[in-house]
Amino acid sequence: MKVLVVGGGGREHAICWKLSQSPHVTRLFCAPGNGGIESVAQCVPIAATDVDGMVKWAKSHGMDFVVVAPDDPLALGMVDAMEAAGIPAFGPTADAAIIEASKIFSKNLMKKYHIPTAQYETFTDMDQALAYVEAQGAPIVVKADGLALGKGVIVAQTVEEAKEAVRSMMSDHRFGDAGAKIVIEECMTGPEVTVLAFCDGEHLLCMPSSQDHKRAYDGNQGPNTGGMGAISPSPNYTAAVAIQCMREIFMPTVAALKAEGRPFKGVLYFGLMITPNGPKVVEFNARFGDPECQAVLSLLDSDLLEIMASCRDGILNKMDIQWKPGAACCLVLASGGYPGSYQKGHPITGLDEAGETAVVFHAGTKLDDNGDIVTNGGRVLGVTATGETLDAAIDAAYDAAKHIHFTDMHFRTDIGRV
Ligand code: AMP
Ligand code: GLY
Repeated sequence: MKVLVVGGGGREHAICWKLSQSPHVTRLFCAPGNGGIESVAQCVPIAATDVDGMVKWAKSHGMDFVVVAPDDPLALGMVDAMEAAGIPAFGPTADAAIIEASKIFSKNLMKKYHIPTAQYETFTDMDQALAYVEAQGAPIVVKADGLALGKGVIVAQTVEEAKEAVRSMMSDHRFGDAGAKIVIEECMTGPEVTVLAFCDGEHLLCMPSSQDHKRAYDGNQGPNTGGMGAISPSPNYTAAVAIQCMREIFMPTVAALKAEGRPFKGVLYFGLMITPNGPKVVEFNARFGDPECQAVLSLLDSDLLEIMASCRDGILNKMDIQWKPGAACCLVLASGGYPGSYQKGHPITGLDEAGETAVVFHAGTKLDDNGDIVTNGGRVLGVTATGETLDAAIDAAYDAAKHIHFTDMHFRTDIGRV
């Protein structure tokens, strides 16, 4: 089968790496891809958000299956468009991807179906939002309604900070249209866990749990990022919590989307907080998380294409998915300055040495004119290792990363240890 993966980050590298192991895949393409993805797939220079261009290319090049990995093209209806053009595609339709694309939609869905989450109110009027912050006090959480690259959430420790967040979203339009409507919600406490689940519209199969590290610096300090590293499984996700989540959150969410006429096919991302009052939903995403994907897929033993096809065909309940025992760790190596401004184009050394004991997924890299790999983004690489225990996986990822160098390289030293 000819398969196209849409996207060009570390998550897409991990998906391509896993799909390239499938005997069903005869040709693998990735659009736009990146410098590292070139090693497992042929990269095609089409922007991930170019729905028409992507469908046209997929059709004219005879793709048998398309995997849409990032949030933007899902929200723009790329899966709908592929299917309408007769090309089977993995991922939710735009109607179902709204569970990520609109926080107001997802909060209202949880309220309607009694799925545990933080108490909240939604606002389109800034003065009302400011008055609500004043009345509630801090800490309090302010969220832009729409997609904002994971940065549209402010966990405010003071009323003034919360008001500033409201103003920046609603008056200064810091997140563009994404912040025209906002959610203000209760600040929850407890460890955060991610659970990714394959879904076929009706059934779901959970992957091993994982844990992202969103803050830029050690000790969970500094600004939020796309994610500085991930481990899988999460030690905070006990068997008892898993049972509770399945009963109170996972199955009700899949059933709710179906009942709303928005059956979800693809990967549903449950961002959870294990609060003193039980697990609650922090957010939903309509796709694999990045870098959780890199850690979790490195534990997958089964054929990813078969799983994805069964989701699309609505027969996931017939699948038996095998996972490797042990644990995985993905350590992100970022450009100095990220998530603020950073330089691009620095040569990267040590990739081959690191690759002897870990899989190095590329996120922000490209091949320069000489065919050398250079930095080309904020998150540059995800050094991913597995081990019999979580400690062994973490040590292996850090040991492999020691080989890699580029100017101003920045990474956290405490992935999996906080
Ligand atoms: P989100 O993009 O919704 O996942 O939010 C980004 C991060 O903000 C989460 O990973 C949490 O660390 C934090 N966060 C979001 N909502 C809440 C909440 N209600 N209480 C506490 N922390 C939150
Ligand atoms: N790692 C969080 C996300 O992909 O949204």
